[in-house]
Amino acid sequence: MAESCRIVAEVLEGIKQNIAPGIATKELDEFAESFIVQRGARPAFKGYKGYPASVCISVNEQVVHGIPSPAKLKEGDIVSLDIGVYYKGFYGDAAITLPVGNISAEPKRLLSATEKALHLGIEKAVIGNRLSDISAAIQGYAESEGFSVVRQLVGHGIGRELHEEPQVPNFGRPGQGPELREGMTLAIEPMVNAGGWEVVLLNDGWTTVTKDRSLSAHFEHTIAVTKNGSIILTKL
Ligand code: MF3
Ligand code: CO
Repeated sequence: MAESCRIVAEVLEGIKQNIAPGIATKELDEFAESFIVQRGARPAFKGYKGYPASVCISVNEQVVHGIPSPAKLKEGDIVSLDIGVYYKGFYGDAAITLPVGNISAEPKRLLSATEKALHLGIEKAVIGNRLSDISAAIQGYAESEGFSVVRQLVGHGIGRELHEEPQVPNFGRPGQGPELREGMTLAIEPMVNAGGWEVVLLNDGWTTVTKDRSLSAHFEHTIAVTKNGSIILTKL
């Protein structure tokens, strides 16, 4: 898993360098796919339930599962990149949301709050805690910043399959759900909206957007629960 997750981290790092006004999201997808294939890995999302691309690229009010297209990024956009890789029998999955050029103060605050919520959740992924301790930490922080967390989509166990038990909600009361044990691997992925928490699916069957069309950010890491605490696998 560390190996597949490392490839995910490397692709994200590579894509980051290419984010600029004027680039088409499809170009980012092509870059990622060739990088993944060159590393001898397979893009995990391509063909998953018919998903047509290697990366989910979601701009502004798009929450997740945006489909790469010839549309170009513009200065002031926020863009989330979600990447999954299959390598030697194991999956890795991670996402980041990045500014395109200069962005204003409010979207900046949304990005840093979502990333911090993810890290506060990861800190709770330790042996002996309960699953919803992760969820509560994420929700508590995101809402304390005045934002809302998406309810309809959740994180997940990950390993030999992309999506395994348990589901990892980004909301809930602490102290519930299964006890976390050594060796568990989870994809923790808060989706945080500037406005309300509700989301709707567009007619393309994939793109999920905020119902009120407010901005949304998404950060995700694949982590492992170990004797030495939680380890982020999708980090360089
Ligand atoms: N990271 C997302 C997830 O965990 C995206 C995968 S869905 C796909 O579900 F269909 F786009 F591949
Ligand atoms: Co995921």
